[in-house]
Amino acid sequence: MSEENKVADATPEGVAQEDKQVPAPKKKNRKAVIAGIVVAAVAVIGLGFNAWHETPEFCVSICHTPMADTYLETLYANPYEPAVDKWGNEVAKADSMLASKHGAMGKKCMDCHVPALEEQVTEGIEWMQGNYYNPLSERDLARLVFYRGVGETEFCLNSGCHNITKTGLTEETKSFARNPHSWHHNEYTCSDCHKGHRASIMVCSQCHEDAEVPDGWLTWDESKNLETQYMNWNDEKFLLES
Ligand code: HEC
Ligand code: HEC
Ligand code: HEC
Repeated sequence: MSEENKVADATPEGVAQEDKQVPAPKKKNRKAVIAGIVVAAVAVIGLGFNAWHETPEFCVSICHTPMADTYLETLYANPYEPAVDKWGNEVAKADSMLASKHGAMGKKCMDCHVPALEEQVTEGIEWMQGNYYNPLSERDLARLVFYRGVGETEFCLNSGCHNITKTGLTEETKSFARNPHSWHHNEYTCSDCHKGHRASIMVCSQCHEDAEVPDGWLTWDESKNLETQYMNWNDEKFLLES
């Protein structure tokens, strides 16, 4: 939510109404002053809350508490060193996880996870009702952008992040023996290879021996031996309503 919205939200309609219901002309000035202080206080709290709301610590301390530390650790991991992913697996080079790679560049949770209001409200209600899983099953891009109503690739490819097209990406990695962005087999999506909170996977190595596996990435075979026991793709709760 933008700061403008917060300030607008902070205008207390209740206070204004009370003013009308209890007309007391001589106290009007005092009331106006008090109302002004209330508005200012709410606005300050609102702005402070908004600033805190944008921090990774907010995300994990308020809502994503049960698995809090694991996400923070993947964000703050040193990209040049080995790390441990949220499932407890060792990652040869933290750089191969998108979160740590972006964390090293000063990016935060909400730079990638742009929250939609409906999403926050839904998650907030489910959180209060205890209607959640711990740890969460892994989300693919389609699920991550579901509430935002944008295309899958816009999670990464947008004017604020990677301002490049899929064709541009093909160019970027054309020096690879087997260009991972050739889109030759269009059934692969970005999140099949690029992983947010665990080592990325070179899926092409399943069939093409010449597919280069970047430092710290996993081959297809290695990824199949990975301990991600909490993933449950068939769980209906996680299937998108269509
Ligand atoms: C570089 C972008 C990026 C950053 C920064 C990032 N994430 Fe993610 N996140 C992803 C991607 C991509 C996924 C999809 C699953 C995956 O690839 O691991 C994901 C998945 C998730 C999920 C869904 C459950 C799951 O494990 O798939 C949660 C919750 C989450 N991230 C929380 C966080 C929190 C909290 C932070 C900050 C501490 C954070 N993320 C920082 C990219 C990011
Ligand atoms: C077959 C695996 C694979 C798929 C699928 C894939 N990528 Fe990549 N991508 C790579 C590899 C390998 C690199 C180079 C290593 C690195 O930079 O981490 C890379 C690099 C990148 C880079 C950095 C490019 C640069 O400037 O050097 C971006 C951005 C990127 N990919 C975005 C995407 C997006 C968006 C998608 C989906 C539309 C996607 N990738 C699909 C494997 C893949
Ligand atoms: C399940 C096996 C399989 C996987 C996984 C796979 N390929 Fe292929 N690929 C093939 C087969 C079979 C062909 C030859 C038939 C065709 O062209 O579709 C091929 C052909 C190609 C070609 C055409 C040029 C050539 O050598 O004939 C490119 C480029 C290519 N693959 C790239 C990739 C990339 C990049 C990935 C990873 C995103 C990938 N492939 C993953 C099986 C696979």
